[in-house]
Amino acid sequence: MKHFIHIKDIPSNDLRKIITDAKKRKLLRKKLNTLEIDKGAPLKGKLLIQMFEKSSLRTRLSFYLAIKQLGGSTLTLRPDELHLSKGAESIEDTAKILSNFGNAFMLRTDSDKKLEEFKKFLTIPIINGLSPSSHATQILSDVFTIEEIKKKPISRLNIAWIGDSNNVLNSLIAASIKFSFKLNIGCPKNYQPDKKILSYINKNKNKIFIFDTAIKAATGADVIFSDKVISMNDKVDKIQKLNHFKKFKIDKKLMGHAKKDCIFLHCLPRGGEVDEKVFASKQSKVWQQAINRVHVQKSILLYCFGKLR
Ligand code: CP
Ligand code: NVA
Repeated sequence: MKHFIHIKDIPSNDLRKIITDAKKRKLLRKKLNTLEIDKGAPLKGKLLIQMFEKSSLRTRLSFYLAIKQLGGSTLTLRPDELHLSKGAESIEDTAKILSNFGNAFMLRTDSDKKLEEFKKFLTIPIINGLSPSSHATQILSDVFTIEEIKKKPISRLNIAWIGDSNNVLNSLIAASIKFSFKLNIGCPKNYQPDKKILSYINKNKNKIFIFDTAIKAATGADVIFSDKVISMNDKVDKIQKLNHFKKFKIDKKLMGHAKKDCIFLHCLPRGGEVDEKVFASKQSKVWQQAINRVHVQKSILLYCFGKLR
């Protein structure tokens, strides 16, 4: 049994195995309908329990389809219906019940501490479906999408992130270290990654560069990533923050500084950080990026269940 919480804590070999498995499985599914089960039904009889303490569309749907296509099933709990959310039951007891009733637990939460607490008491795998410090399943899937489109290992590509220093970027930084790819980060000076992340970058050195202009970060990029300036539950002066990011909007002019065949990716949902003309352009691969979450979640689940070959 393995947990899937933060990319930084998962060995590179395992991350690579997940991507390789997802590639094979996606290919084998070409002629199957949405709810048809993969040959061999590798997770037959298994129940994935999901809980979202924050909104979700893609993560919810992709885990639903992922477990179904592997032959298992899923149940989504509403946090407001649990004793836990009212302080009337401990994480320890909740975790014991989840472990006895289900076979894996996917949690989207506003507390990294809660993920760790659950991990301590669960005897089934826990998957981080987004937390304040990371969005690991998203970024692993994005590595898959990039290699699928570019048809080469991500280590041979220049990746640029233009936007806030948030959970998604933290996972991208971890991926840059694990998969050894060049990563340019473009964001206003006051919004650079925090000290802990900076020391993680420094410890693992050489391929990550931080710029305070969007143009410098975008120059020569094969892939440009962005995300909302204001994340869920971001406790900031929103108008002020949006103002600070005005010069970091992804528009056609900025894309012009990247390589000609540069693609645009965004985990969604989007805000005003990307111009409609870029979002709707041929360079934008956001829909392919979103559906690939299903394929990669499946291999993440198999990894957690110790069934990845
Ligand atoms: N990208 C992503 O995680 O989307 P949701 O918040 O809709 O799950
Ligand atoms: N950074 C965003 C990602 C949403 C999928 C957030 O945390 O709201």
